[in-house]
Order: sequence, then C-alpha cells, then structure tokens
Amino acid sequence: MRIENTGTTEHIGSVKISGTRRMLELDSGSVTTTTARGKPETEKVSLEAIRNIEQRLAIVLPCKNEDLKVFEGVLSGIPHDCLMIVISNSSRESIDSFKREQEVLSRFCHDTQREALILHQKDSFIARALEDSGYPEILDDKGLVRNGKSEGMILGIIMAILSGREYVGFIDTDNYIPGAVLEYVKHYALGFNILPSPYSMVRIQWRYKPKVSGEIYFKRWGRVSEITNRYFNHAISERSNFETDIIRTANAGEHAMSLDLALRLHYATGYGVETQELISILEQYGGILPVTDRDVAEKGVEILQTETINPHLHKEKGEEHLLKEMLLPSLSVIYHSPLAGETTRQLITRELTEQGCINEGELVPETPLMPPPMKLDMEKFKGSLEERLPLYSVPSGVILTSKAPGFTPPPRPEAPVRVLFTDLDGTLLHPVTYSYVACLDTLRSLQEKGIPVVFCSAKTRSEQMAYREELGVKDPFIVENGGAIYIPRDYFRFPFAYDFEYEDYLVIELGLRFKEISLRLEKARQESGLPLTGFADMSIEEVALKTGLSLKSAEMAKQREFSETLVLEGDRQQVQQALNALKNAGLDYVFGGRFYEAMAGNDKGKAVKILTELYKLNYGEVVTTGIGDSENDQPMLAEVDEPYLVLKADKHWAGIKLPRLKKIKAVGPEGWSRALKDLAV
Ligand code: GDD
Repeated sequence: MRIENTGTTEHIGSVKISGTRRMLELDSGSVTTTTARGKPETEKVSLEAIRNIEQRLAIVLPCKNEDLKVFEGVLSGIPHDCLMIVISNSSRESIDSFKREQEVLSRFCHDTQREALILHQKDSFIARALEDSGYPEILDDKGLVRNGKSEGMILGIIMAILSGREYVGFIDTDNYIPGAVLEYVKHYALGFNILPSPYSMVRIQWRYKPKVSGEIYFKRWGRVSEITNRYFNHAISERSNFETDIIRTANAGEHAMSLDLALRLHYATGYGVETQELISILEQYGGILPVTDRDVAEKGVEILQTETINPHLHKEKGEEHLLKEMLLPSLSVIYHSPLAGETTRQLITRELTEQGCINEGELVPETPLMPPPMKLDMEKFKGSLEERLPLYSVPSGVILTSKAPGFTPPPRPEAPVRVLFTDLDGTLLHPVTYSYVACLDTLRSLQEKGIPVVFCSAKTRSEQMAYREELGVKDPFIVENGGAIYIPRDYFRFPFAYDFEYEDYLVIELGLRFKEISLRLEKARQESGLPLTGFADMSIEEVALKTGLSLKSAEMAKQREFSETLVLEGDRQQVQQALNALKNAGLDYVFGGRFYEAMAGNDKGKAVKILTELYKLNYGEVVTTGIGDSENDQPMLAEVDEPYLVLKADKHWAGIKLPRLKKIKAVGPEGWSRALKDLAV
C-alpha cells in the first residue's frame, strides 16, 4: 500500500495528530521504496508488513438488527488473518435475529476455514462477569449491559484482549460495500506499521459518502461529522490560541487502536463514543489534565487520520437518529470536557439549539462516561466466564479455550541497553595488516553481554559477510558507507518497510545503485578529461596490489552495489580537481583513509539513524556507541550517543570535531579494544 506522506501534523502535549493523509495505492506492487529511504512525498508499506499486523488485529463488528446479506458482505471484506468479534444487540424475541447472525457467521467460518467470536450484549453471564470483575459502570438498572454501540465496543475490546491480539479495529455491520470494509482494515494495518508509538490510533475519513436522491451524489462529509469536527477544532484552537482544522475524524465510526491505548480511555455511552475517545486522549495526554501515566506521556500517543479510496455507503437511519442520537452526544462530550473554553461552549449550545437537539435556554445534557477497561480484573473476568467462553467461539470451543492467555502485554525482548556501530578498515581491522586479533577478547565479551555489533563500513556486502562469518557476528550491517542496511529477516519483532530481500536479509536501500554511479562517473570523466580510476576499472590483481588485500578479498571489494572506490592520485590540486568533477556529475564523495568513495545520497549517519530507530522501536530506549578512524566516519559518530575515534596508521587522528568525541590514543584494533572494554564488563 502507498499513502501520501505530506500534510500537517499537530503536537498537543504528548499527542501527535496527523492531518488526513490520502491513500494512493491499495496495492503498490513488489518493488519497494521506503520512508527510510527518504522519499518524502509518499510512504509505502509492504504486503508482508500489512499481513503481520492483520495477524495481531481483532476486528470488532457491532451489530444490531442489520440486514443479513449486508452483514455477510461485511464479513467477506475482513482480511482472513484478522480475528472477527461480533458483538450483537439484535432482537431475540419474535424472530431470533441473533441466532441468524450466529448461523451466517458459522457458515462463513466453516467455508473459509476461519475462527471468530460472537456474543450477545445482553448475555446475563457477561453482565455478571463484568460486575464481579469490577466494571459495573457498563450495566443498566436491570443489571445487564446497557444498549449502545459504545457498550458493544467495550465488550469487543475485552474479548480482543482475551484472545491475545494486540490491536482492535471497529467496522459497522451496515456497510454495503465489502471492498470499502477491506480497505478500512488495510488502513488500520498500514497505520500500525508506520506509527512508532505502542499507544496508537488510526481514524478513517471517507473520501465520499454517496447520497442517493434520484442520482447518486458523492458528498464529502456527513452533516454530523462536519459539525463535530468544527467544534472539536474550535475547542483546540481556543485553548492553544492557534487556529487549527487538524481534526477531520472526530466521530469516525471506522477506527482502530492498539489495545494498550484502548485499555486506558474513558468511553462515552451511545454514539458520542468516538468523539469521546479523542477527548479522552487529549485530556489525559495532551496537557489538559495532570499526567497519571508516565509511560504513555513519554512514548506519546500517535493518531493517524487517513482518507479512503472507496466511498462509504451504509443504511441511513433518519434525521431524529442523526440529531438526537449522534450530534447531541458528540457535541455534549466536547462541551463537558475541560478542553472546551467558554466560547466553544457558547457556540455548541447555540448549534444544538438551532438544530433542535435542545430547547432554547436548556442546558447541554451530560453524556455518561465509562471508566477505562483497565479497571477490570481481566483474570477474574476470564475465570467467571470459564464455562461460557467456548460457546462464544466459532467453531464452538476453538478460540478462547485454547488460546486465551489472559492479558499479558506482549513482552519486549530482553533489551540490549547498548548498540555498537563500528567501522571496519582501520578500526576493527588493522589499517595495514587488516588483522582483528587485538579486538577479539573485547568483541567476545560484548557478544556475551548481548550488545549488538553493527558493522558500518565502506566495505561491500560480500566483504562484510565474510567477516561476520569469521567473527560470529549476527547483527544487521551497513554496507558501502550507508548505501544499504542489511537486516537478518527475523531480527526485529515488528514489520518495517524495506526495499528488497537478499537471501535471509531484508534490505533498506539508501544510496543510488552502482549502475547509476558508473554512468555519473563516466560523465565526470568525459567532462573533466581525468581518468578517475575506480575498482571497476582495475583487475582483481591490481586491486589486491593497491590495497594489500588478498586476491579473494580484492575480488569481494570489487563487488560494489551502491558506490565506487576511486584511486585518486596526484598532488593536492589534482585530487581537488577530481573531486570537483565528481560533484559536477552529481556524485558525493568521502575519504575513507586511503581511497575516496563516490556515491549519491547516502552516508553512514543516515543509515545509523534509521537502524537506531528500529532498535528503539524494538527494545525501547537504547544507548548507541560508535567507533571509527577516518573522515567517512564523521556522520556515524555524529549520530551516536558515545562517539570514539582511534588513531590512524600514521598515529594521527582524523580531523573530526564533535562535542562528545573521545579520542583514543591507540591505532585501529588496539584503540577499539581499549575504548570498548568498559562496555564489555
Ligand atoms: N452491539 C451493538 N449494540 N451494536 C450496535 C448497537 C448496540 O446497541 N447499536 C448500533 N449498533 C451497530 C449497528 O448495527 C451498526 O453496525 C453500528 O453499530 C453503527 O450503528 P448505526 O446506528 O448504523 O450508526 P450510524 O451509521 O448512524 O453512525 C455510524 O457512523 C458515525 C460517524 O458518522 C457509527 O459508527 C457512529 O458510531 C459514528 O459516530
């Protein structure tokens, strides 16, 4: 999938909200580009990454007396790997609509080899379990779960947790277009791929909501949405004194959240629920109420608003439903929030009066709120329903008996508190002999401590793979001065965007391919008349002779994918002339200690930054250490928390100036070992 990567973003306290981003392609093919690569205007997420989220996503389908054909259509739109959770409040009297829904779902699951959950909101066992486990606020005066889509959603969230999923999405079951349903879920999965925070939310704005009145008319906004967004934005603007229209999805029924976030929100009863979710996020984490949850405040809440390609077509339920059941609670939750200032409140009162939702002079009624589901004792809830849970599963008994783990948030793998980025030539490897012997003890200790050792070198993939093999290093590696990052396939526990696969590695490509580099080099040669000799122009023997590498290593050094090594000879002025020629031909260059590397668009620093982000996403906070010897290491060293510089063969330090740089008084691997031995203990 590909989504546009432009538009505004607002930060409100620890909450980050994206302005609506348009989906550009629902299927964006197999040749990938990535955000990581720095394509600023679009962002692509691979099919594999989407699937990975879908396997961790539960889709809650609230249903109250919907047409069974439409209901079935909605089921067909939900991707196979998602767990469907139907929460029904359909009638059970003269016609048992709930039973029909169970039958449709069972047949569907049987035919498609899927599992699902279905339960009735008025099931008295559920009500008792909720009461016993400390969540009576959801019950009515008869002691059953109250009527309302919102109450159904909360049940859905609880069941999603019991089934061990990490994300929950909501889809109404009155949607006439299965393709639109499929698209919503794909948006959710894309969102959770690109939002780094564990507390994240995706909200959908439809591009069109068609109305049929003689001819089909593709309307941009529903009336309730338009009004709710207006006052929501007014409240934020009034509070911050900066006008904004960032909120486009205040009451979006189609939305999804990480369960870590869903557990922490206050929910409104009835149809004010989606607006209240946003209010709850801003109140708790947007600096309006005192922060009670440090972890969320630190990691931040991220909200992505996306715009669909498919139109949204569903059953219309009349003016009374729109105004009294939807607009009134939606505006009421804004009105009664500390987010709303005096002017916003006055305007809301006027709007509700003009729309006939309240009488002149009447106060805006308060919509009751339900506490965060986190309040509920999940183990107790599961225990109270032990016998009933298999009955909610389709096929009966399958899901909850075998898989329900209770809620244990997915554990983060043991965190490496540190990550080491190391240059090879002249640093881990001796500048003259290429020996790494002096590093071995320290390297082993780092490995025993579980500190990832990331090679970040001008060396090619084949050269680095040979050293990885010899040294038993299994971490990602950065080739050709940041030309690409090679990441072992199962190294990180979450999906990320990459450009291509190579053997067991997922590769993020940052530089231009060798073919393009060669073309530019040729242009530089023609325009300058200089030889600009590169490894590609030399035989293996010549490279071996020039570098001191063995024939085998020289052969690997020639296998360049994203850069070319240039042997620039002559005096200072001649070398400068050559470098100018490279620049004029659109090439960047960097001095690697003995030779120059020509490339385009990449440097070690960019690659280190991307990889550090991935480590942080995977492990939470990490401290990065970097070590190098020459000018081409500067961007890497500038990017890490603890930069070290070792001496070159001539016993001088490269002219790198960085505030935290520690200069080690020893050459190459000796310096490496001396600098890093403290990390290794
Ligand atoms: N479980 C359960 N319990 N489901 C319910 C209940 C209930 O009491 N009431 C309604 N539903 C189901 C419906 O069957 C439908 O699938 C979904 O909830 C939405 O209800 P509608 O009554 O069709 O809502 P709407 O289409 O007017 O409004 C939708 O869009 C709004 C934004 O424009 C809803 O998603 C709203 O929540 C949303 O704000």
